[in-house]
Amino acid sequence: MLCMGLRFGARRYLSYKAVRRPNLSGTGRKLTAPNIEEDQNQKGVGCLTKQLKAKILATGPITVADYMREVLTNPHAGYYMNRDVFGLEGDFITSPEISQIFGELVGVWLLNEWRKMGSPTPFQIVELGPGRGTLARDVLKVLAKFKLGTEFSMHLVEISPFLSKAQAQRFCYTHDEVPDAAKQPYYQTGTTATGTKAYWYRHLEDVPRGFSLVLAHEFFDALPVHKLQLVNDQWQEVLIDVAEHENEKVDFRFVLSKSQTPMSRVFQPLPQETRTCLEYSLDTERHVGLLAERIERDGGLALIMDYGHFGEKTDTFRAFKQHALHEPLLAPGTADLTADVDFKHIKHVAETHGHIYSCGPVEQGQFLEHMQGKPRLEQLLAHALPENQDIIRSGYEMLTDPKQMGSRFKFFAMFPGVLAEHLKKFPVAGFT
Ligand SMILES: C[S@@+](CC[C@H](N)C(=O)[O-])C[C@H]1O[C@@H](n2cnc3c(N)ncnc32)[C@H](O)[C@@H]1O
Repeated sequence: MLCMGLRFGARRYLSYKAVRRPNLSGTGRKLTAPNIEEDQNQKGVGCLTKQLKAKILATGPITVADYMREVLTNPHAGYYMNRDVFGLEGDFITSPEISQIFGELVGVWLLNEWRKMGSPTPFQIVELGPGRGTLARDVLKVLAKFKLGTEFSMHLVEISPFLSKAQAQRFCYTHDEVPDAAKQPYYQTGTTATGTKAYWYRHLEDVPRGFSLVLAHEFFDALPVHKLQLVNDQWQEVLIDVAEHENEKVDFRFVLSKSQTPMSRVFQPLPQETRTCLEYSLDTERHVGLLAERIERDGGLALIMDYGHFGEKTDTFRAFKQHALHEPLLAPGTADLTADVDFKHIKHVAETHGHIYSCGPVEQGQFLEHMQGKPRLEQLLAHALPENQDIIRSGYEMLTDPKQMGSRFKFFAMFPGVLAEHLKKFPVAGFT
């Protein structure tokens, strides 16, 4: 996602304080446990703050991962669940929304790699967290140009009821909610104009087996992270507690766990880890493990596109609201929460959970240029109206310029390990 704050290089710095939980029975403290039942009916954002406070007051500080999960995907008031958060009117804009070139080149890449594997049919395109459905729409356009439609099916993993409807409206000719969703692994179905069937799921585990081309653009950065800190040679977890004083500018605060948490106990740093403070996503590990098993067992590939690092960053958990950085512990549910993806961790999981051949991460700008982004830009410009030329050109520049999204965003691909020799001989496009 691109936000003004990022463009200007702004960054949020955190300091962790090993403070004791406030004594709530003490004098002067007016925090009281709110009425959760009443709040759930309100569906409001204030309701999420109250629910989180009630939970903490009842059972103690929560993990950053629990906070992130609740804030983003709470069924009533979760950030993604009930509205469109993208574009100028929203909080951030993503690459597929900036230029059609992005989705088209991803589509060409998928087609090229699928053909190198012998064009197996039927196959499935799986997308994790499709947002407004723009990437899927542009990929479908490419496949339709090559006369593919009924040879494959679309499988969308989306937790948000609102966004799943928006996705269906973007690339389906007809779509329906599944009346008895409890009996089916999917909750919505659709058909595109070229006859491709589409299915929506809440969990990757529910997507049927089969040769799969998997896409994940800005999905992993939305998955919850735990924050861990090495104290006296022992990993301890940074937790979230209620703010100490009512008049503070935030609703919550970070505290260091007093004793070991389940996560700090089981956490295993990668070999040669030198950081003493890091973010670890169990959900990422689970999803990448599932992808690795699926690709090794049934064939296919996965392309993960996101902003991230290679195991060197320590503190990237942050919030965005209306295209600017926002305090993540203030008014939860009103701003996006995100953390940079750790590609070193992803690569490690991919290669240890399955027999996987991985490529990258490479920078987005490099991938798009290798995929012939410039000639595609020239082609679009040659047919565009004069008044649209600048926006087309600046969109492509934004995606590829290292000072904008070109180097911060990375591409990483997974293939079955049995193809390693074949792919060394016929290298994966965009990664060389
Ligand atoms: C940052 S948006 C990216 C959207 C889109 N891929 C794009 O780049 O424009 C994250 C997407 O993942 C979905 N999402 C977040 N957490 C999810 C989860 N746990 N399971 C399934 N979908 C999730 C959101 O609803 C949203 O569609």
